[in-house]
Amino acid sequence: FCPKGRPSPCGKVNPKILKNSPKVVDTIDVEDINEKAVFCRCWRSKNWPYCDGSHGSHNTETGDNVGPLIIKKE
Ligand code: FES
Repeated sequence: FCPKGRPSPCGKVNPKILKNSPKVVDTIDVEDINEKAVFCRCWRSKNWPYCDGSHGSHNTETGDNVGPLIIKKE
């Protein structure tokens, strides 16, 4: 059963990233971040783990409101 308007596959957050892995874990060293880094939280980016703007079309298609995590250095 998949509620109407629910992204496919139903009940899963991650539709396509590293699906052959039992768990998706990413590690970024703080020293490798210049002024800022923008990380995907919608699981639709083609540049995972970074945001590529795909959350915009996901939000339009589903009515969702997800966006990236932005890490800034002062
Ligand atoms: Fe996923 Fe921007 S592409 S949050």
